[in-house]
Amino acid sequence: MEKFDKLRQIAKRHQDRRILDLFENDTRMQQFTCRADEMLFDFSKTNLDAEGLTALLGLAQSAGVEARLDAMFAGEKINETEGRAVLHTALRNLSGDPVRVDGQDVMPGVLGTLAAMENFADALREGRIQGQGGAIRDVINIGIGGSDLGPAMACRALSPYADGPRTHFVANVDGADITDTLRLCEPETTLIIVASKTFTTIETITNAETALRWMKSKVSKPGKQFAALSSSVEKTSEFGIPADQVFGFEDWVGGRYSVWGPIGLSLMIAIGPQNFRAFLQGGAAMDRHFRNAPLSENMPVLLALVGLWHHQICGYATRAVLPYDQRLARLPAYFQQLEMESNGKSVSMSGAGLDIAAGPIVWGEPGTNGQHAFYQLIHQGRQIVPCEFMVGAEGHEADLGHHQDLLLANCLAQSEALMTGRSLEVARARMASTGLIGDELERQARHRVFAGNRPSTTLIYPRLTPFVLGQVIALYEHRVFVEGVIMGINSFDQWGVELGKELATALGPLVRGEADASDKDPSTRALLAYIHTARQTTS
Ligand code: F6P
Repeated sequence: MEKFDKLRQIAKRHQDRRILDLFENDTRMQQFTCRADEMLFDFSKTNLDAEGLTALLGLAQSAGVEARLDAMFAGEKINETEGRAVLHTALRNLSGDPVRVDGQDVMPGVLGTLAAMENFADALREGRIQGQGGAIRDVINIGIGGSDLGPAMACRALSPYADGPRTHFVANVDGADITDTLRLCEPETTLIIVASKTFTTIETITNAETALRWMKSKVSKPGKQFAALSSSVEKTSEFGIPADQVFGFEDWVGGRYSVWGPIGLSLMIAIGPQNFRAFLQGGAAMDRHFRNAPLSENMPVLLALVGLWHHQICGYATRAVLPYDQRLARLPAYFQQLEMESNGKSVSMSGAGLDIAAGPIVWGEPGTNGQHAFYQLIHQGRQIVPCEFMVGAEGHEADLGHHQDLLLANCLAQSEALMTGRSLEVARARMASTGLIGDELERQARHRVFAGNRPSTTLIYPRLTPFVLGQVIALYEHRVFVEGVIMGINSFDQWGVELGKELATALGPLVRGEADASDKDPSTRALLAYIHTARQTTS
């Protein structure tokens, strides 16, 4: 893309420059950090200088990020391939301001659903809604993709606030998932939440039907112990879920952006409506920052630009998300869907092909665990992996402050090590101090060299509260949005998941041996033959 040429030239000119040397400029820490409320984003440990940043900001401006942002918040149908508005931000709008779609204020509906969810959650938590065997002790959310990852990630993240029934999450159609979960619960004291925007997703419906059979084995009115989160009221009622336990949302909420509304019900039940509101307020605070801060001080914009610099300009294929916060263990998976389902595209909004990769591969694990697994490659492998660290200044375990100190020290050590590395001279001196000499000293020293100059960013927040989690999720949502606008793609559809679904439906009868596989490719035929033979042998 021509619009990236200037940036590519800048990157090429500076590819061998040391990041460390950029700190000679006294204003670097001012220019390459950004604050949103109490949160600090530090992107100074990247090979970006004022010239590069200015060019990136120019790119955002010329791509019309600000106008597109206004269009999104104004309810315009920016999801053009599906003809839909994109208004997950309305779900966290507690300001009293209207939000219009086609001239209609959607806020009365949003707030009405929020109030209904709160009544339901409170009644459940207080034992006013009970199961056949008494108070509900377990809640199982059955859903997949955005109907699973958001609440599953957030329930884990906010477990210090969880004082309601235990929450469980079943996503995979693999019978192992539901079996292992049902084993932990009693039908008489369990609530099943079927979370599916479309209520057609085969994994979710199959798991829900299995859960219904399990419930029926012990409970005389099983429907009463089901709730549904869906846009399709007809389908939920066909399933037998009472209308007052169905929480709906509109088509302007995309699956991977839906944790803020009914899809967050399991989270609300776990942490209580008040904490859930704090989570919404965190998201809304980031929305305000995104809408009001100038581009050069706008955290989602800067996060997006750093991502673009690394992926589209420098050509680094992947991005590691490394939360030094064990409770954010599922955040990398959540961000995988957010980024890769949104921006993993090869066609621009106009239908023309993109001549540049639109979305990086996102992956990660919490620190410090990852350090003892894949960081070897990050430090000494040939490919460069930009790392996005995140950490809280404090943990929730007041009596374990020394753990948090170690966690923080490790997080800071990693970004420092990636940037500074260790030279051959230093490695030689270390080896010499162990008594090695000659060729062996040289050989051993070479294994202990760290090239350094590897980019990373750090997002640091006071503590992982519901408010902060809301900020972090909204920050990344908007980052993905800005990247998408600059690439000129639609970040809100996901046609790439459809083909596999269609083929899986067609393959069902072939797996069961009920249809002829002769029109399939040789590999698929051989795999089917293996399955049939293996099943005969084991049955
Ligand atoms: O297959 C992709 C997808 O459509 C995701 O975008 C979505 O989050 C997930 O499936 C689940 O969809 P639903 O909530 O309609 O069951």
